[in-house]
Amino acid sequence: MPASRLLILATASALCGCATVDGGAPAGTASATDPAALSTSAQAQDIHSNARPAEARVTHVALNLVADFAARRVVGTATLDVAAAAGATRVVLDSKGLEVGKVTTVDGAALPFAFGAADPILGSPLTVTLPTRTGNGARRIVVHYRSGRQAAALQWLTPQQTAGARQPFLFSQGEAILNRTWIPTQDSPGVRQTWEARITVPAQLTAVMSAENLTPGGVLVPSRRTAAGEVVPGGRRFSFRMDKPVAPYLIALAVGDLRFRSLGPRTGVWSEPSVLDRAAYELVDTEKMVAAAEALYGPYRWGRYDMIVLPPSFPFGGMENPRLTFLTPTMLAGDRSLVSLIAHELAHSWSGNLVTNAAWSDFWLNEGFTTYFQSRIMERLYGPKIAQQQIALGWDDLQSAIADAGGRASPATRLHLDLAGQDPDAGMNDIAYEKGAALLRTIEAAVGRPRWDAFLRSYFDRHAFQPITADAFLADLRRDLIAGDAGLEARLMLDQWVYQPGLPANAVPPPAGAFAAVDAAAATYASGGGAQAEAWSGWTTAERLRYLNALPRTQTPARVAALDRTLGLSAVTNSEVLFAWLRLAVANRYAPAVPALERFLGVQGRRKFVAPLYQALVDQGDWGRPIATRVYARTRAGYHPVTSNSVDAILK
Ligand code: BES
Ligand code: ZN
Repeated sequence: MPASRLLILATASALCGCATVDGGAPAGTASATDPAALSTSAQAQDIHSNARPAEARVTHVALNLVADFAARRVVGTATLDVAAAAGATRVVLDSKGLEVGKVTTVDGAALPFAFGAADPILGSPLTVTLPTRTGNGARRIVVHYRSGRQAAALQWLTPQQTAGARQPFLFSQGEAILNRTWIPTQDSPGVRQTWEARITVPAQLTAVMSAENLTPGGVLVPSRRTAAGEVVPGGRRFSFRMDKPVAPYLIALAVGDLRFRSLGPRTGVWSEPSVLDRAAYELVDTEKMVAAAEALYGPYRWGRYDMIVLPPSFPFGGMENPRLTFLTPTMLAGDRSLVSLIAHELAHSWSGNLVTNAAWSDFWLNEGFTTYFQSRIMERLYGPKIAQQQIALGWDDLQSAIADAGGRASPATRLHLDLAGQDPDAGMNDIAYEKGAALLRTIEAAVGRPRWDAFLRSYFDRHAFQPITADAFLADLRRDLIAGDAGLEARLMLDQWVYQPGLPANAVPPPAGAFAAVDAAAATYASGGGAQAEAWSGWTTAERLRYLNALPRTQTPARVAALDRTLGLSAVTNSEVLFAWLRLAVANRYAPAVPALERFLGVQGRRKFVAPLYQALVDQGDWGRPIATRVYARTRAGYHPVTSNSVDAILK
């Protein structure tokens, strides 16, 4: 039995108290106590965690937190169930900036704890001496703590930063290694944990989490005084439970003036009241997407699939928090043209949340599989043309990403990365997404869709609720798909794809012609012709993106101005199209677009839009850097740390 299966048993038994996980275990679970079973090759080494799960690992987290908007901290306790190897006397947790008052047993007896040296990327190991084991073998510790002043996972928004402008807002972002700034646990994707939470918020607000919502309207709790005389503020308390073991980066919280709209039997959307109609319009196909995804790769295993549209400072397009995808409002285009984002985040319910990269060096296993799966969902729902256009846009992004990474020989263009000494962010670019997806399309083309789909479906079943490494994926492929076919093995060039830089010669490019009309128009423009407003007005968002990105990067001022005028580019509201235009405009030092640029950088904080635009400004030296500095002085405070850290690095 694979060790991580044992871990699930261990978790279950720790919860129900029906078997021991640590010594004297009944037959079948005994080896869960053995360090070798606690650490499998699939989770060999996570260099981005201080935890030592082979010695003692967290199996369940129970949070009891108050969201203190005045102090901008979460405050309370994390009760951890720990499965320890025989003889283990301590557990090592991840932490970054956490302020720990004490650690106790569930009975309140103090347990010794100590912080190790702080690493600027990883934070500090928090080592706790374990209590002697309880009757059921689990060892439970209670960490009394609050988040630090600058918890990078949390963004506390003023009312002015929300759509309603009346209530504050809080949201968390865990991926990759940010959750250790508000949850003291083992923050490694290979250490799956079940969890529950009780979150108390100001009475007029609603809390939602990436878990089953046990109290949708919350429960009012009065403030009270403890025996020691401390005042515990009252508010509204919400309870959540995730009974599937998940990677800890997937624990997520949002608090604000939130309403819910049902979209289908299993789907719905949360947002601020004034955004709800637009959100429900845009996301109307979500229920169908879940069905399409299931038809492709097997049952959706998380119960509900809800989404929340966050305020515009949310630093990503989407984040696949289980049962509750977090979304940027910049995807609300008004015409449903950006819903491939939903296909993407939904696909993570299989690739990422069910089968999870064991460490961030294999981030491509999350994102490459998901990018592939996303386009299969799009094809099923909207047809091959739409899907092929998106594949072609992704292919273009891949060529740019390879160039940005330093060309085809650069080690940064590998799928499996060596991130020693680096923030995992360093590996989170379009190579993982698009080279990863290109590999899967290449395999599909080689073996045919029926065989490939059967393999993928079995892969998700086989590795469900487990971590996966590149090695393990390749071993699976060789065992179940290649099965000794030497010709196929040679044709696929798998090791080159995964471990070598560049794009192997067998990479299957997108079918030519997906954008035939648009490419012809771009060629006309490049040879001196003008843009055609009539053609443009008939194009889809994908076609407009292809066109703008295909235009010559530097043009005469008169041509840029004519382009803007003819197509109305500075007034575009679609965020992706506006972004593509502003990049071109900045590259040409086109001053009339600066007001639109300033507005765009001020009204949203999605890193994918914000960072490249500041970079484009900096690339324009004397012309652009002063604009960047001036705009950033005004906008920085509104950005999430994920975004401001990236822009800080660009402007340093
Ligand atoms: N999991 C990612 C977001 C992420 C990446 C968070 C890296 C932290 C570190 C999410 O699924 C994602 O890929 N979002 C994309 C959208 C997608 C359609 C490419 C985004 O945010 O732009
Ligand atoms: Zn993703």
